[in-house]
Amino acid sequence: IYPTAKDGSRAVAQEIAALIKAKQAAKETCVLGLATGSTPKYLYAELVRLHREEGLSFRNVVTFNLDEYYPIEPDALQSYNRFMKEQLFNHVDIPEGNYYVPDGTVPKEKIKAYCEEYERKIEAAGGIDLQILGIGNNGHIGFNEPGSNLNSHTRLVTLDNSTRLANAYEFPNMSQVPRLAITAGISTIYKAKHVLLMAWGTHKAKIVRRAVEGHSSDQVPASLLQQHPNCKFVIDEQAAQELT
Ligand code: F6R
Repeated sequence: IYPTAKDGSRAVAQEIAALIKAKQAAKETCVLGLATGSTPKYLYAELVRLHREEGLSFRNVVTFNLDEYYPIEPDALQSYNRFMKEQLFNHVDIPEGNYYVPDGTVPKEKIKAYCEEYERKIEAAGGIDLQILGIGNNGHIGFNEPGSNLNSHTRLVTLDNSTRLANAYEFPNMSQVPRLAITAGISTIYKAKHVLLMAWGTHKAKIVRRAVEGHSSDQVPASLLQQHPNCKFVIDEQAAQELT
């Protein structure tokens, strides 16, 4: 628990930087699983600062993002492909071709094969060393909404209405919020060697409590992380205020 979101984000950035450097020293690739949304914005800003001011290099980094709306063009204002370029990829030295964000333009009949290929790419890269997560107000991780199966893989999902409402601020109006998304599955997340879930603000306090102290259940997907062998929640004091 950190005093503020910025403090927590700095700590996570330090952890990522240490991992990248350790992998560099071992001449290995560092595979990161990344999230979008408001939660990781400070983290990405801090990683960009570490690159610019402290010489942190991303040349040995490969990244896989959790999710993307479907359908959506990659340059749409709300696209997670665009978000990642604007927040991180355009500002660091990660080689083009080393970062993957699900493609919201894949024709529907090809989505199943596309998602299987996404999983294969993660495995071919050596698996995710460190997965960054946010948490939805309903406990979703990635876009794995309540009821998502522990064995779920990357797939096309229907967004909960509560998720569409929470994300409506990004769109001109509610009717334009996509109903579908491509998301990495719970099992995809579970296979990561190390998981860091971040949450900031009083509006996340209730769901953080349910995820950490509640019964582990697929009705609160983040609570399934209680069984992960190497998972940490990094939260600010506001998000911690309901913890007992
Ligand atoms: C986004 C993602 C989602 C968000 C969650 C919280 O890639 O995977 O699970 O992390 O919806 O969103 P924010 O951070 O906007 O509160």
